[in-house]
Amino acid sequence: MLNDSFLKACRRQAAQHTPVWLMRQAGRYMKEYMAIREKHSFLEMCRTPELACEVTLQPVRAFEIDAAIIFADILLPLPGMGIELEFAKNEGPVIKNPIRTRADIDAVRAFDPQRDVPYLLEAIKMVKAELNNKVPLIGFSGAPFTLASYIIEGGGSRNYVEAKSIMYKDPDSWHLLMDKISDVVIAYLNAQIDAGAQVIQLFDSWVGCLGPDDFEKFALPYTKKVVNGVKKTVPLINFGTNTGTYLHLVKQGGGDVIGVDWKVRLDEAWKVIGYNHAIQGNLDPVVLFSTRAEIKRRVKDIIDRAEGRPGHIFNLGHGIILGTPVDNVRAVVDAVHEFSV
Ligand code: CP3
Repeated sequence: MLNDSFLKACRRQAAQHTPVWLMRQAGRYMKEYMAIREKHSFLEMCRTPELACEVTLQPVRAFEIDAAIIFADILLPLPGMGIELEFAKNEGPVIKNPIRTRADIDAVRAFDPQRDVPYLLEAIKMVKAELNNKVPLIGFSGAPFTLASYIIEGGGSRNYVEAKSIMYKDPDSWHLLMDKISDVVIAYLNAQIDAGAQVIQLFDSWVGCLGPDDFEKFALPYTKKVVNGVKKTVPLINFGTNTGTYLHLVKQGGGDVIGVDWKVRLDEAWKVIGYNHAIQGNLDPVVLFSTRAEIKRRVKDIIDRAEGRPGHIFNLGHGIILGTPVDNVRAVVDAVHEFSV
């Protein structure tokens, strides 16, 4: 690997510089992305290895980032499970037949990555060949709670009323569904590792809607199951948002790296998580709508909080937001390089 700073930081080994990559680094804020997106739907792009490969590489060409992340989605396994998936224009994912009853849960089909997402595995192989060891490639999946919330709600949600109703009224069914989803996640991630992914990230984007006791009872056991079921040959990043009040529980889920959002100071978060884990984060993505000077100041603050300890991976606290100026993405990456030890 020509640039192994990211892999080293995942293992808490000293790296040449603080590695940086950005969640959602491929996407609509880039004109190169839009040139392809104008001709193809999002799902078509995911399902065409040549297009997924090209879009994965766009940010690697544009910025001095230390990792690539495969262009895909956490919801790609759904059709294989018998759940119909669409992306409505400007509305995000829509699931026509959400899972709401015990019968729905019983009917969830086993997921087979070779049968259900062959295009993703092909795309990973193509990207690896194109990268030619320039930087490592990240594979990813939704964590069980976040996937369950989409599958039950049928799309994004404000209060998670449908998902929590099952959780609170019929915990047996909740546990059954989470168990099935965990098996899907394990298969999805192991197939990506076999295809060549060199690091894996679990996105638990919505788990922070749970209080600590519910997190412990209804989500944590399944993150643990996934972490235990995934091949140990590559580092795993366990990322969630809005979990700052119970990071001591989040870390019990496992993973080499814990990803944190911006609602917690990096040094305080790392202290709670413990220095036997690496940490990823945690710039507020909206800072990228400010000025270069403000971006520099805030990047420096985060790097200072890592105190030169090996095992800090610089990232945003959540994905790049649509409309982010490309120059400010570059400003973040440049500032990390400028201030890193
Ligand atoms: O980071 C990367 O560059 C890799 C690509 C990536 C996408 N989705 C591409 C995408 C990753 C890592 C994801 C993960 C994902 N998908 C998550 C977890 C990450 C997070 O932000 O917490 C979630 C919740 C999803 C589900 C999803 N997919 C939503 C809610 C949306 C709509 C929101 C939006 O930005 O439109 C998508 C669509 C999607 N996934 C797009 C991209 C580039 C936009 C598609 C388009 O071009 O219209």
